Amino acid sequence: MSLLKRLGGTTQPPESPATAPVRGPSPMPTPLSPIPEASVAVAPSEPRNLAPAPSQSAIVEDPTPATDPKRMLELSLWIVDRIQASLGNQSELKRSSESEKLLQERFARIYQQSGQSLPDTAVKELFTMVCDELMGFGPIQQLLNDDTVSEVMVNGPNMVYVEQKGKLRLTPVHFVNDEHVLKVIDRIIRPLGRRIDRKWPMVDARLPDGSRVNAIIPPCAIDGSTVTIRKFSKNKLKIDDLVRFGSMSPEMGEFLRACVISRLNIVVSGGTGSGKTTLLNVLSNFIPEDERIVTIEDSAELQLAQDHVVRLEAKPAEVDGTGLVAIRDLVKNSLRMRPERVVIGECRGGETLDMLQAMNTGHDGSLTTLHANTPRDALARMETMSMMAGMDLPLRVIRDQIAAAIDVIVQQTRLDDGQRKVSYITEVQGMEGDTVVLQDIFKLEILGKTPEGKIQTEMRPTGVRPRFTPRLEAHGFKLPPSIFGTQMPGQKKGW
Ligand SMILES: Nc1ncnc2c1ncn2[C@@H]1O[C@H](COP(=O)(O)OP(=O)(O)O)[C@@H](O)[C@H]1O
Ligand SMILES: [Mg+2]
Repeated sequence: MSLLKRLGGTTQPPESPATAPVRGPSPMPTPLSPIPEASVAVAPSEPRNLAPAPSQSAIVEDPTPATDPKRMLELSLWIVDRIQASLGNQSELKRSSESEKLLQERFARIYQQSGQSLPDTAVKELFTMVCDELMGFGPIQQLLNDDTVSEVMVNGPNMVYVEQKGKLRLTPVHFVNDEHVLKVIDRIIRPLGRRIDRKWPMVDARLPDGSRVNAIIPPCAIDGSTVTIRKFSKNKLKIDDLVRFGSMSPEMGEFLRACVISRLNIVVSGGTGSGKTTLLNVLSNFIPEDERIVTIEDSAELQLAQDHVVRLEAKPAEVDGTGLVAIRDLVKNSLRMRPERVVIGECRGGETLDMLQAMNTGHDGSLTTLHANTPRDALARMETMSMMAGMDLPLRVIRDQIAAAIDVIVQQTRLDDGQRKVSYITEVQGMEGDTVVLQDIFKLEILGKTPEGKIQTEMRPTGVRPRFTPRLEAHGFKLPPSIFGTQMPGQKKGW
C-alpha cells in the first residue's frame, strides 16, 4: 500500500522524486542522522538552503532507534522545512481538509526522499507532528487536543508540564530549542496583532478556542521561554457534576441555588485553579431566565445558558500604552446598562469598591470571585482591594460597606490530592464593634486519607440557620431544617 494511502490519502501515489523534485532546498534525503541545528530552528517562511545531508555513515554509528522522540521531532522539522519551502510564500496554512490533503501529498513525497523506513505507526505519528507544526501549535498541540489536560506549562524547550485530573506532571514533550518555543509563541500571538520581544518580553493572549495564554521570554524568563496555557473547558462543569464529584453535597447545591435566586450577593473565594470560575459559572446559571445579566471578565470564560446576557471583556493597552479598558471601567459602565445582575469574573483591585457600592445601592444579586484562602481572608482581601480604588476612605467605612453588601462567601479549595471542594459556605452577618461577623453554614471536615492517598472528607452543616432565611422564604424557598443540620423533634436527619 502506498504511504499516502497509509496516511489516509485518496489521491494517486506521489510521483518519484526524480520526476517531481521538491521546489527549493536540496531534495537529498537525510537518513537517520542528526538534523543540523540550522535546519530545525525557526522555520522560515521563504525557502532557504539547508545544510547538506550528513553522510550515510552516521546511521551506522548512531544506535538511537529511529522512533526516538528527539529523532522524530528533528525529522518532523526537517520535513516541515521542506514542505514550507515547497509552499513558498503560501506557507501559512489554516487547518482544513484541503490543507490536510495537500500536506499528505507533500509529506509522502518528502518522507520518501528522506530514505527512512519507519514503522507505520511512527509514520502516522510523524505526519501528525508535521501537521501540528504547520497548522497547529507544534509539540504542545497534542496536549491541547487532550480533553483530560486542563493546563499546559512550557518551561523552556525541555520541560513541558501539564495539569491532569488536578495533578501536575512532567510530559515527554520537547521542543528542539528555545527558538522553536518562540516560533510557537509567535504563532499564537501574531494573528491577534500582539508582539513579544526583548524590550517587552511578556504577553497575554488567547487561543482561537478561548484558552488563556501567558508567555514570558528571556531576558526576563531566565531559563528559557515560558508559556502557560489555561485551557478553556468546552463543557463547563454543571451543578450535577460538582455534586457527583463530591465537590459539594446536594443540600449545599440546593442552598446555593436558593441564595442566587433570592438575589443574595455572593463572593466565591479560593486559590488559583481551585475552581472559582467553574463555581461562579454554576451559580450564574441559577439566575432566572427573565433577568438581564451583564458579565464582566478579563478574558471571557463564563458560559451562561440564559439568553439575555451582555458579555463585557476588559481590553489590554495598545502597543503605545494607551487604550487600556480595565475591569473597573467596565463595572462602572455596566451600572448604566440597566443590569438586573452583574457578574464579575474576578475582583483583583479597585473594582471591588465599585462593586460593593453597586451592591449597596440596589444592584443586589451580584456575583464575583476573588483570591483568598478562607472566608475571613476574603474579607481582608476585599478591604485591601477596595483601598486600591484610591478613594482614601477610612478602613471602618470600607468594612461597613463589605459587611452591608456581601451576604455569602463560598470558599472553594483544591486539596493536596487534587480534589476540588467547597470548603465553607459562610454567612456575612454584619458588624459587631470593629469586626465583621461571619457564621459558617456548611463546612468541610477532613476525615483522613485512604491508603491510595485520597483525602476523605465530609460536608457538614454547622447546625446554624442563616439570618437571611426570611429572604429565601420570601422567594418561595422553604428549606427544611434538616438541610442546616437542625432537626425538628422526631425528624430523621436527612444526610
Ligand atoms: N469541583 C471541581 N471538580 C473537578 N474539577 C474542577 C472543579 N472545579 C473546577 N475544576 C477544574 O479545575 C480547573 C480550574 O478551574 P477554574 O474554575 O478555572 O479555577 P479558578 O477560577 O479558581 O482558577 C478547570 O480545569 C476546571 O474544569
Ligand atoms: Mg478563574
